[in-house]
Amino acid sequence: MPDNYMPSWLSYTLSATGLASAAGGVMLYLYQSDLLYLPSHPDGSRTQVPKPSEFGMPYQEEILTTKDNVKIRSYIIPQQDEKAAMNAPTIIYFHANAGNMGHRLPISKVFWEKFKANVVMLSYRGYGLSEGTPNDKGLRIDSQTMLDHVRAHPVLGKTKIIAYGQSLGGAVAIDVVARNPDAFSGLMIENTFLSVNKMIPHVIPMLKNLTWLCHLNWPSESSIRQIVKTPILFLSGKKDELVPPAHMRALYETSQTRGLKVWKEFENGTHNDTCIQSGYFSAIRDFLLEIRDDMPEPAKEEAAATKEKTHLSEQDERFQLVSGVADADGMTHSFRVEEVDED
Ligand SMILES: *[C@@H]1O[C@H](CO)[C@@H](O)[C@H](O)[C@H]1NC(C)=O
Ligand SMILES: *[C@@H]1O[C@H](CO)[C@@H](O)[C@H](O)[C@H]1NC(C)=O
Ligand SMILES: *[C@@H]1O[C@H](CO)[C@@H](O)[C@H](O)[C@H]1NC(C)=O
Repeated sequence: MPDNYMPSWLSYTLSATGLASAAGGVMLYLYQSDLLYLPSHPDGSRTQVPKPSEFGMPYQEEILTTKDNVKIRSYIIPQQDEKAAMNAPTIIYFHANAGNMGHRLPISKVFWEKFKANVVMLSYRGYGLSEGTPNDKGLRIDSQTMLDHVRAHPVLGKTKIIAYGQSLGGAVAIDVVARNPDAFSGLMIENTFLSVNKMIPHVIPMLKNLTWLCHLNWPSESSIRQIVKTPILFLSGKKDELVPPAHMRALYETSQTRGLKVWKEFENGTHNDTCIQSGYFSAIRDFLLEIRDDMPEPAKEEAAATKEKTHLSEQDERFQLVSGVADADGMTHSFRVEEVDED
């Protein structure tokens, strides 16, 4: 066969590497949502959703209808005394790409019991018992629906709202704070990425020249620049094997917020177990305390008057609350919760 029998572009395409990347490209294009969103992992995640009552917390389960008519599930876990609830911060918990909201209850329990916060959780569309199928646009609608619900809530609507997100949940949190600059008093993100595109070369090196095929759209690197006044806490596991820790550092450096910016890294934290590292919850507690004092002027007088009644206080014991290890899937439902003195 003469050398020039095939056009060179075709021979390239059919060469072993070319074929592999063409096939990889097609796979990437078609299945990228399935690679990112893992609502059926671990097994049972679409049918079994642990309840706050199993962790000794009172709650309402609310079914929210999104503007595109999807019914998503949420837990509202307020402080029991209405006055206490009104003076407490409300943390909206945006979970990562696997499991459902129930798998994160041990962490919510710390926020609720130790920090006396109100906690609000949701299972995104297609997760847990929520209807629908996950996709970028849908998760954005879900986070907005959750926020709107909290703001309209007779008690929680009067509180300071803080977004908290791990991994993919960090991207959801950055996005919703960027779009609602006046709604949030704080943002706490952990082990999240600059963008899905920038993750691909790290997760699937073979496809690094094909990231332009990726239409998943969580552009946190640019969204975080739109956050100009909200205080942000960056929680970074230095041993994160999934999202390179450099992504978190770059988000920190990119952030232009005039609000407080706190960087906290955990030497031994991996992607899923950063929350069990020593100092994790104290970092959150200190951030919540700072936010309580860092309010726009009109709110300050009122806060001074209610400060005495706020439960979160500098006198609280320092503690590391959660110990034990994640299960093979990295789900926190298997964590043992215990209190130890930090010193
Ligand atoms: C990606 O493209 C560069 C040059 O553009 C090339 O050197 C490299 O081998 C390609 N990598 C892969 C995995 O195809
Ligand atoms: C990290 O792990 C090493 C080895 O187990 C240990 O010696 C070190 O104290 C740990 N560091 C922190 C901050 O927990
Ligand atoms: C962390 O969780 C993800 C799923 O969210 C899983 O793919 C990964 O294997 C887990 N990593 C570890 C170290 O448990």
